Amino acid sequence: MSQKITAAITAIGGFVPEDKLTNADLEKMVDTNDEWIKTRTGVEERRILKGTGKATSDLCIPAVLELCKKRNLDPLEIDCLIVATVTPDMYFPATANIVCDKIGAKNAWGYDMSAACCGFLYALTTGAMYIESGRYKKIIIVGSDKMSAIVDYSDRSTCVIFGDGAGAVLLEPNYEGFGILDSILKSDGSGKNYLHMKGGGSLKPASYETVANKDHYIFQEGQTVFKYAVSRMADVSAELMEKNNLKSEDIAWLVPHQANKRIIDATAKRMGLSNEKVMINIHRYGNTTAATIPLCLCDWESQLKKGDNLVLAAFGGGFTWGATWVKWGY
Ligand code: UT7
Repeated sequence: MSQKITAAITAIGGFVPEDKLTNADLEKMVDTNDEWIKTRTGVEERRILKGTGKATSDLCIPAVLELCKKRNLDPLEIDCLIVATVTPDMYFPATANIVCDKIGAKNAWGYDMSAACCGFLYALTTGAMYIESGRYKKIIIVGSDKMSAIVDYSDRSTCVIFGDGAGAVLLEPNYEGFGILDSILKSDGSGKNYLHMKGGGSLKPASYETVANKDHYIFQEGQTVFKYAVSRMADVSAELMEKNNLKSEDIAWLVPHQANKRIIDATAKRMGLSNEKVMINIHRYGNTTAATIPLCLCDWESQLKKGDNLVLAAFGGGFTWGATWVKWGY
């Protein structure tokens, strides 16, 4: 009888650039203040990747190399690498291809996944299915965004939120029931009206006009996105718990996308979880889009125990949202 294969996370790595952009720095750039940013979002500082010639792949690479070192993994062993990002180095080739080349993962194939803040969950679920199929043994999922490349630092409604970073996990087959056990993923493209980047795509290729109109920056109707995020992220997390008969007391950690502390609190409340069970690092990194969830896992790695039930939950541009149940495997 063949054993059921699950995809376990067997190593993680993370990277944030050194340069900090604090609320005090932003007070000098736009009409805002530390108190507003902290109470409305929870962010205190974010990391920014500075320097010409630096891109999202430069965030991914240290995260992936850290993971390889921890697991004693030779990049030649990697079967596939997926990068979840909305800020790829270039339109094409995929950032995944660039990362594989630079780390010497010569036997890997890979691609980029575009699902904004839910990108890591989409990619994690996809990668897990490749492992479950029995076809691949080592898949790396990276969530990485250089949000500073698409933030308008004269727009106070968006520039206070976002930061740069990357996190990566290794998925390997497990035969004891650890790993990615279930995911509920959703999307609603009508949400594009409230959160998007107008220019640079095939709809509005770059031109003098798109640059003059600031079409290459994030557009967000914050309040509308907030309302959707609060209800959708809480609903899908509750749905995942119900589907898998998980009670609040069964869950060791909620690992939420870090978009706004108030959205996180609403989700935790709906799931019946106390603050001590919620990973929150938004104050240190802001919203790093696809990187928030793996960066939380990195920050909490030493506190995770084998067998812990984790619920990963996210909501973002698309709209895309979802929740994933992970039984921690080490
Ligand atoms: O990660 C992907 C998905 N994204 C999200 O989940 C983000 C969801 N949205 C949010 O987190 C919040 O909507 C924001 C943090 C973006 C904004 O917070 P808000 O409580 O929804 O504020 P608001 O847009 O309703 O603005 C309230 C007031 C306005 O002033 P008036 O019109 O009441 O006088 C804004 O102009 O706050 C003002 N404001 C600011 N004031 C100081 C907006 N941004 C700032 C700022 N500093 N940075």
